[in-house]
Amino acid sequence: MRRLTILITAGPTQEPIDPVRYLSNRSSGKMGYALAEAAQKRGHRVILISGPVSLSCPARVKLILVTTALDMYKEVMKHFRASDVIIKTAAVADWRPARFSGKKIKKGQKTLNLKLIPNPDILKRVGKIKGKNQLLVGFAAETDRPLFHAQQKLLQKKCDWIVLNDVSQKGIGFESDQNQVTLLSRGGQKINLPRMSKKKLAKKILEVIL
Ligand code: PMT
Repeated sequence: MRRLTILITAGPTQEPIDPVRYLSNRSSGKMGYALAEAAQKRGHRVILISGPVSLSCPARVKLILVTTALDMYKEVMKHFRASDVIIKTAAVADWRPARFSGKKIKKGQKTLNLKLIPNPDILKRVGKIKGKNQLLVGFAAETDRPLFHAQQKLLQKKCDWIVLNDVSQKGIGFESDQNQVTLLSRGGQKINLPRMSKKKLAKKILEVIL
């Protein structure tokens, strides 16, 4: 098989509120790092754009560390043109505080109103501008009507594949070493993969999409 350049995003993003607080999403980065390791072991060149996690970077993988969704957006835009495959495992915060307070917000008041503004949808943007020969794979973490919402994301974000993670199920998804997913393709394929370790699953996902 030809040596491909595979761009993977992983982990959460953190959106600062003040110097000591941030908004974030749940994600340990395990799924994305497992994919990066598996892709590298298949002989591909891997660029891993990661939010803050406490994992070591797999050997021979180019790691780019980011904090916010805007940082991740900039790095993806910088690297995606030169990539054959883009896999978006990251749990990107959909909103960020409209204003960053340079000083720690004091606890004085009973309630605190935070104004949030939307972050760019990185996957949707890539889906809009990607080339014909680039393969785009999104993840969908869902809790209700998982198939319906994953199908919607597949279409709206113009992905070639979407990996559905039903995170309402105990013991899989966020933080766990195990996962169970369904792969949906633009061409109408639906592949259920049973529960297994994220490392094993990463290999299976690559077998299917590549
Ligand atoms: O990291 P782990 O603990 O191992 O957990 C893995 C996981 C559950 C986080 C992972 O498998 C997963 O499902 N990741 C996607 C989580 C998510 O944010 O899903 P979403 O349905 O909100 O987003 C859909 C897709 O759009 C994702 O590919 C996401 O990266 C992308 N997105 C979302 C919002 C945004 N502003 N920009 C994006 O690119």
